[in-house]
Amino acid sequence: MKLLVMGPPGAGKGSQARRLVKDYQLTNISTGEMFRQSANRGEELGKKAMEFINDGNLVSDEITNEIVRRRLFEEGDNQDFLLDGYPRTVSQAKALDNMLKEMNSRLDAVVNIVVDKDIILERMVGRRVCKNCGYTYHVRYQPPKTQGTCDQCGGELYQREDDKLDSVRNRLRIYEEKTKPIIDYYKGRGMLININGMQSFDAVYRDINKALRDVT
Ligand code: AP5
Ligand code: MG
Repeated sequence: MKLLVMGPPGAGKGSQARRLVKDYQLTNISTGEMFRQSANRGEELGKKAMEFINDGNLVSDEITNEIVRRRLFEEGDNQDFLLDGYPRTVSQAKALDNMLKEMNSRLDAVVNIVVDKDIILERMVGRRVCKNCGYTYHVRYQPPKTQGTCDQCGGELYQREDDKLDSVRNRLRIYEEKTKPIIDYYKGRGMLININGMQSFDAVYRDINKALRDVT
């Protein structure tokens, strides 16, 4: 299955993606995660990207399309994947269409996780991420067993720079302006599945699974 998971910042894309990739055996392609890992490795690309990310701005379409292209082609034509956080502009959506056409492939479904703004703010401010493996927690909704330490790998948990209030506000504004138009883009093609993200982790996952059963 070739799946796209979208939704506003903090909607729960990453949290749902990590279960979906395991259960459906998909390659996880998260552009945000790719930029953060690149920065952690001290690479120029990641360091440059973080200058935009930390303030809540988008990385350029050109750079983002290129890292996705490389990744998709490296995985090969028949690889099933889940895209988390890409595309994020209409221009990226068109670039993705072209990449898939070149690969004689197409998306099977676009899952759009719908969450109201006040809930988003609470989720982002309480999020903690492992410095080492990127696993995500929430101080209230998904706390680690030991405060400040990752259950998965023992790494140190930190707050993402772009989860500070000013950046969050900017990310939400950019989402409205640049990313929301993609919803209509995919709706027009009959691919869009809206999921209520304002439920427990398990309930959101159950609804996504139910909707995907009709697709596969
Ligand atoms: P990215 O890392 O993709 O950030 P985002 O889209 O803003 O989304 P988040 O990762 O913040 O949220 P999420 O939806 O994954 O939620 P999560 O599961 O963590 O991108 C970061 C930046 O990189 C961008 O701002 C941009 O600068 C750049 N970038 C990335 N892709 C790009 C592109 N294509 N083009 C240009 N630039 C790009 O959940 C959030 C919190 O809520 C967690 O604490 C979680 O535990 C909690 N939570 C989740 N679900 C629930 C639930 N059901 N109940 C209670 N708590 C929940
Ligand atoms: Mg994420």
